[in-house]
Amino acid sequence: MSQAESAELFQHPDRNLAMELVRATEAAAIRATPWIGRGDKNAADGAAVDAMRKFLATVAFSGLVVIGEGEKDDAPMLFNGEIVGNGQGPQCDIAVDPIDGTSLTAAGRSHAISMIAVADRGSMLDASSVYYMNKLVTSEEGIGVVDIHRPIGENIRALAKAKGKPVEEIRVAVLDRPRHEVLIQEIREAGAGTRLILDGDVASGINAARHDTRIDMCVGIGGSPEGVATACAIKALGGFMQGVLHPMDDGERQRGLDAGLLFDHTYGLNDLVASDNTFFVATGVTDGELARGVRRAGNIISTESIVLRARSGTLRRVSADHQASKWLDD
Ligand code: FBP
Repeated sequence: MSQAESAELFQHPDRNLAMELVRATEAAAIRATPWIGRGDKNAADGAAVDAMRKFLATVAFSGLVVIGEGEKDDAPMLFNGEIVGNGQGPQCDIAVDPIDGTSLTAAGRSHAISMIAVADRGSMLDASSVYYMNKLVTSEEGIGVVDIHRPIGENIRALAKAKGKPVEEIRVAVLDRPRHEVLIQEIREAGAGTRLILDGDVASGINAARHDTRIDMCVGIGGSPEGVATACAIKALGGFMQGVLHPMDDGERQRGLDAGLLFDHTYGLNDLVASDNTFFVATGVTDGELARGVRRAGNIISTESIVLRARSGTLRRVSADHQASKWLDD
């Protein structure tokens, strides 16, 4: 390999990468649209995976899928360990979720997104051997103020003070699951309100770190892969995040230990993704606070996406109109 070639290979991902990647989440969201409300989450996911993979193949980078659709034998495409992209340009880690909220999509509910996160190669935590992680996400006001090991009531009061608003105005997003029954009760007893979400804690985590949303904090046990993807976005937003792995049984704990994961450790943002050069892109599949879902009017399909880049600290909103006729047999 020539010097020039190796210099290109090891360059860091640059700003153009995120704008290229958004084409892949747009494509995944568009292809999933016919399956919204059709009760078949696998079909919706399959359509999104196919589209995302096809577009990723055209992007000038070499992305190692650290967080994908599972193991190679179960997931024919976008599996963990696969290399995506056209092989030119920067070497990166990539986390993909062609649809976060497959059940939401199948049911025709709000808040499903298609997302991709990218960071320098070797910088994303591979937490795939442990399915669940307890997470706490806030905006930057939470830095040095909240802690995942403190009672939720204390965290709520501390964040309210830091944000300069009454506790009653604090909204906490939590997955609506039986495992969170006590947590939900404690949030309400503290005087704050809950935003119970049916699925999709990536979008809620990001919304908790943004300044123009109605969510102040996102807490509770959700997917660990989703936690790492969320961390890439939170870095770009300058927010706060902690995660603690939550194994379901001894077998999972052992697999986690074998993979070098720690259970008595609080994973901070830098543990979840070590690089400060992260990108996050998401396109709305169905309507949500993060992005509007896909719409069609005549021959025009409209998409709305967000593009985050940690190095510049920017959040861009990308609205695109696509000619439906171009998507017929592609
Ligand atoms: P999928 O769309 O990939 O099924 O994930 C949805 C999701 O709600 C994630 O956002 C969340 O982290 C995880 O599932 C929670 O898992 P569970 O449904 O088992 O509580």
